Amino acid sequence: MKLFKFSTMKYLKLLIFLAVVCLINSCSKDAIFEPQNEGSSISGELLKSGKLSLDIAVVSDIHYLAASLLRNDAVNGAAFQTYLAFDPKLIEYSIPILDEVVSKLEKEKPDILLIPGDLTKDGEKLSHIAVAKILHRLASQGIMVFVIPGNHDINNPQSKGYRGQNSYETETVSPERFADIYDDFGYRNAKYRDPHSLSYICQVKSDLWILGIDDCKYDQNIGATEPVISGKIRPETLRWIKDKMKNAKKEKVTVLAMMHHGIMEHYTGQNQLDPGFVVDNWETVAPELMEAGIQVFFTGHYHANDITELQSNGKTLYDIQTGSLVSTPSPYRLIKYSGNSLNISTEHVVSIHARIPNGLSFVDYSTVFHQQHFDAYFDYVLKNKYLMPEPYASYFAPRFRNAIMAHYAGDEQITDDEQVKVYELLGVSQELYGAVMTLWTDLPPKDNEIHLELN
Ligand SMILES: [Fe+2]
Repeated sequence: MKLFKFSTMKYLKLLIFLAVVCLINSCSKDAIFEPQNEGSSISGELLKSGKLSLDIAVVSDIHYLAASLLRNDAVNGAAFQTYLAFDPKLIEYSIPILDEVVSKLEKEKPDILLIPGDLTKDGEKLSHIAVAKILHRLASQGIMVFVIPGNHDINNPQSKGYRGQNSYETETVSPERFADIYDDFGYRNAKYRDPHSLSYICQVKSDLWILGIDDCKYDQNIGATEPVISGKIRPETLRWIKDKMKNAKKEKVTVLAMMHHGIMEHYTGQNQLDPGFVVDNWETVAPELMEAGIQVFFTGHYHANDITELQSNGKTLYDIQTGSLVSTPSPYRLIKYSGNSLNISTEHVVSIHARIPNGLSFVDYSTVFHQQHFDAYFDYVLKNKYLMPEPYASYFAPRFRNAIMAHYAGDEQITDDEQVKVYELLGVSQELYGAVMTLWTDLPPKDNEIHLELN
């Protein structure tokens, strides 16, 4: 969660540094990845059963932290608590949360599992290896798993372990190592690989491709102190996608795309209010990809369970964003795909096998954790970015907290009581009132349970 996090000196320094890195990179070539299967199909259809409809699960932003990287009561240590203050997530429970979802999926047995990035807390090699091991368990039960990287997953300078009060650096992964670790989850069986990124296409059956788009800027992480949050589809990758979409059109194949960043805004003004969560140039890229024939994007990144649509030239593009397992209310999606429709439902993690403080249930702990951390976080932001004096900052922080938590959950609808409280903000700042209200304004269609017809 980085909402409104663009005011500290740390960020100013980072932005200046990134601008310099961007300038340097604009003069150099994009990272080159060896095209393994470029041009021809080496693998046939992955699904042998000839099923007409498919069950697809989507789990996003797992942010797994390997057990060995959180030791000696580090959860209560200064280093881990400082990290959480600026990025509240249930990292401490990332292992039992994923365990819970995996055991549900083992019963559910979907045909496909999509994971649109941020598999790890911050790209720790040990966390990636642990996640891949878990995914192999699902794959061994016949579930086809597809992953793509998120902004936290590769070349992350914040790749850290925590011991007692302190943190220490731990090895992160290169893009090549990422593809190697997750070889079985999109890369080895790819019909096509993009030579310029970790994007790939897998042919699930004769009339269905999964297009995993890597839009992360990890090449800019090298030498930086923080990973780049924003994403961009490289121009070469965009050309590669459009080229392959021509084949898809000829062969009458439906293409389901997956990418970490949003392909469109999930509330009006998102890209101005909270830059870096919708892919760069989304206003031109989204219509281009829709024109190329893509109707559905599965995304993550913002930790919100939200579906938004874009309509143009009689076509509709859906961005089906799935919330994070380590952010309230820990949602994941189960979808029935029938060739011309998606029947989407949302499940939530409601209990985990872990000892939770004060005898609280997982849901209560998660709610209180997010309320407290968001209140402190927005109090800080209101004081430091918007120069709002106390006691106003702490008075208004819960209005932002409630709005972001409602947006995370999806199908957000403000109550009359909350509306009255938010209205008080107008007396202080029209801009801040607008920020809270746009979070509360759910763009169509519905977010959690919905039937979508494809063309
Ligand atoms: Fe994330």
